[in-house]
Amino acid sequence: NWTMASFKDDAIQRIKKKVGFDRVICGLSGGVDSAVTAVLIHEAIGEQLTCIFVDHGLMRAGEADEVVRLFRESYNIPLVHVDASKMFLGALEGVSDPEVKRKTIGKLFIDVFEAEAKKIGGAAFLAQGTLYPDVIESVSFTGGPSVTIKSHHNVGGLPERMNMKLVEPLRELFKDEVRALGRELGLPAHFVGRHPFPGPGLAIRIPGAISRDKLDILRKADVVYLDEIRKAGLYDAIWQAFAVLLPVQTVGVMGDGRTYDFVCALRAVTSTDGMTADYYHFDHDFLARTATRIINEVRGINRVVYDITSKPPGTIEWE
Ligand code: XMP
Repeated sequence: NWTMASFKDDAIQRIKKKVGFDRVICGLSGGVDSAVTAVLIHEAIGEQLTCIFVDHGLMRAGEADEVVRLFRESYNIPLVHVDASKMFLGALEGVSDPEVKRKTIGKLFIDVFEAEAKKIGGAAFLAQGTLYPDVIESVSFTGGPSVTIKSHHNVGGLPERMNMKLVEPLRELFKDEVRALGRELGLPAHFVGRHPFPGPGLAIRIPGAISRDKLDILRKADVVYLDEIRKAGLYDAIWQAFAVLLPVQTVGVMGDGRTYDFVCALRAVTSTDGMTADYYHFDHDFLARTATRIINEVRGINRVVYDITSKPPGTIEWE
């Protein structure tokens, strides 16, 4: 794709010019946007870039390892990996309000990030994988200019506090363009094709207060669900699919015994930019097979429901 190739070359020149001989720090989230940002900047300025990956303990199964391996081994990009899960889970104990959860995570993230950035001697620039829809949606939604639907999780406020300037090379791009750029940069196809994952992670996929046990249950259900989606060849047709663990227990029967376990909701949507979305029309065999597997394989879940809400009026995530 010549357009993306020339965008890449231009972006690299712009980054070089902007950054000069200064240092840049980039926060990795495990997602495509921050990974593409980091690899692009690495192409431009090499060792002047250091990445920081704050593991908040709210990732999906195996995700933290995958990111660390990709950057350290495949790209040789200097990466600081901070395991801050105890801190995050501690701060979130008993927190059930969605906005308080988001703000707690966002604030702690900045604190940890700032401390790590200082440890490595700081930097003149902070790189962020902000996309065009992020720019728009954090300003407003269809509700009007002053309505905040959700506090989006990023390192807002940090640049001023640490006296850093921002580098946001993806600011004009939509998700599909970021993926094309990622392919252009040689990122593995399975990584570039990943579904989006929210900054606050699994914390916003467990309505109400979270716990280690609930996170474990949710991770297992999510693995089964995505495994079925991949097996059915549907992964790339879907914008985002994930399980949600509801704070509701219901009565069930297993063998000749009574169960009283949690409800798991499955969500899958199609979208082009995340701003509007339609629920995905799975066939019933797929849903039945997946529900049976989740109930059989995941202890703690005895009922599965499918979310058929589109956006609007629903949002993609439940919180
Ligand atoms: P909603 O739930 O607002 O989500 O319809 C739209 C898209 O944004 C993702 N999302 C986030 N991404 N930080 C992010 O980086 C966040 O705080 C956040 N909240 C939602 C969501 O997964 C979907 O792709």
